[in-house]
Amino acid sequence: MKKEKFEALLQEDRLFPPKEEFAVKANLNSEQVYSEAEDSMNFWEKQALNLDWFEPWQEVLKWNPPYAQWFLGGKINASYNCLDRHLSDWHRNKAALIFEGEQGDSKVLTYQDLHREVSKLANVLKSLGVKKGDRVTIYLPLIPEAVISMLACARIGAPHSVVFGGFSAEALRERIIDAQSKIVITADGGFRRGTAIPLKENTDQAVRGLEDVEHILVVRRTGKCIEMEEPRDIWYDEAMKEADLKCPAEPMDAEDLLFILYTSGTTGKPKGIVHTTGGYLVGVSTTHKWVFDLKEEDVYWCTADVGWITGHSYLVYGPLANGATVVIYEGTPDYPHKGRYWEIIEKYQVSILYTAPTAIRTFMKWGNEYPLAHNLSSLRLLGTVGEPINPEAWMWYYKYIGSESCPIVDTWWQTETGMIMMTPLPGITSLKPGSCTVPFPGIKVEIVDSSGNPLSKGMGGYLTIRQPWPAMLRTVYGDPKRYESTYFGNFPGVYFTGDGAKWDSDGYYWVLGRVDDVINVSGHRIGTMEVESALVDHPAVAEAACIGKNHDIKGQALVAFVTLKEGVELRDDLIEELKAHVVEKIGALARPEDIIFTAELPKTRSGKIIRRLLRDIAEGRALGDTTTLADAAVVSSLKELYED
Ligand code: PRX
Repeated sequence: MKKEKFEALLQEDRLFPPKEEFAVKANLNSEQVYSEAEDSMNFWEKQALNLDWFEPWQEVLKWNPPYAQWFLGGKINASYNCLDRHLSDWHRNKAALIFEGEQGDSKVLTYQDLHREVSKLANVLKSLGVKKGDRVTIYLPLIPEAVISMLACARIGAPHSVVFGGFSAEALRERIIDAQSKIVITADGGFRRGTAIPLKENTDQAVRGLEDVEHILVVRRTGKCIEMEEPRDIWYDEAMKEADLKCPAEPMDAEDLLFILYTSGTTGKPKGIVHTTGGYLVGVSTTHKWVFDLKEEDVYWCTADVGWITGHSYLVYGPLANGATVVIYEGTPDYPHKGRYWEIIEKYQVSILYTAPTAIRTFMKWGNEYPLAHNLSSLRLLGTVGEPINPEAWMWYYKYIGSESCPIVDTWWQTETGMIMMTPLPGITSLKPGSCTVPFPGIKVEIVDSSGNPLSKGMGGYLTIRQPWPAMLRTVYGDPKRYESTYFGNFPGVYFTGDGAKWDSDGYYWVLGRVDDVINVSGHRIGTMEVESALVDHPAVAEAACIGKNHDIKGQALVAFVTLKEGVELRDDLIEELKAHVVEKIGALARPEDIIFTAELPKTRSGKIIRRLLRDIAEGRALGDTTTLADAAVVSSLKELYED
């Protein structure tokens, strides 16, 4: 666990109680909600009643550790809850999605519009042979069609697997194979800083030789000339022209798969995290309404891409189930200028902003003049997610974006948890910069030592979750053993998050980061093994070890220590070539910041790489315990190398 962070956080003693004018109007303003949720089954059952069910459940929870089933026997459809149920009154004309393109083009879809598009696409998918249970891979930019595709899949009961558009062809291929998708939905490209990303070319490359992929549905976005292979490839807009407007939502069992989402783990292969329908929707809709204090008139902007869990839970399913108006933005914060986010907030009068600490640190670095040049007075609540936020960035966000009047909800959760697990409730909880504060009502967490013994206040250890919650992952797709060992193998019967945390004397939680070999770059989890496999795949590389070093903007940056194969000459351009190789294999998000060539890696006598020492070297610290090293000389020469 990272000790220096630990100590820095201990010094944080600022406290921000809810402001009176916020609390009086808040959806929740009494501590009572926590005591009411002590009986968590009763609590979740009560929340489930806020959704529309085709058939009621017979049993709230069946917990056969480590397997949970929620709302057994209940029949529900996620697309119906996000769309149809808002059509019976004036909400049908409420803006569901406000889309802002990178190029400045924009589009508004009301709930009625979205329902129509989703129904049509659901019929297109059916006509292409997609049936209930079939997996559909979605590889799109952040455009309305991405949301439409997810909801169309949900409508007919076809689990989706959304792959972030920044992933490479190889990463996409691996995910298509693992999910055994027959259909891929992609676009002719997506805009990123003015250039078009070749999504269709990547898809072509990804599916080469995969006979199970029957169709590729292609959205026209950039207008760039691309190759279409008939009859496999079909233009989205042409198929939609002929599609029927009516497509009743399929009644799904509460435990039917809603989606698979791949995330990094400690071994090379990404894990297909499985989420089911009923419990997931109950979890994300309840947390969305309470944590963001959602009001009918809010304009809510979550800056995440749908390729990540935040996009699934708090851009699509949570807010749309709650009938919210959601802003989606295709581009980056600095294109065509560094005030783009603030311009969007002013343009659409955004009232709730949910973004990542890495973005906040970047804005801080760019300077206050960008937000100060815009009127941000529409904002009333701010949120963060993805990694610990350093108190300095918190204070900047509070002051320059929230004008010292907006509460900040620092939300801790994971792809696996599906929903926010630790967070302030903005009308109730006093905030401490850098702390995700306390568990959401109905959630029981515990910090334990390595033997699983609970630790008392003031101490740091392993963050565990003691009892099932409705939006929890159900398994790892096609690999239940991995599910059991990764999440329930360390502390039997208890979910282990992979994070280290401490709780302070007030019972507030401070997440310190991962304790495993997964690093968090710009709020995205990257398995160091994946990057190492990509490096070793290069013909020049014999062995590689990756670690995360602290980074001002990204939180952590990837550093790779590489040994070359015998006889390979060290060329000047090899570093760039290896970085490019990782980008090709995984995507730009995994590009190492530094590559260091070394003749040897520090290993134990049994041959295990000691990453802890590599981290010490990369961060320029005094070396920790070196007694287990097989060859102590390796580290000292590495240290010299790095300091050069
Ligand atoms: O280490 C924690 C960090 O991000 C991990 C989950 O990553 P992922 O599954 O990609 O989901 C990110 C979006 C939910 C966690 O194990 N993390 C996430 N939110 C926070 C956080 N660390 C500290 N504070 C947070 N608010």
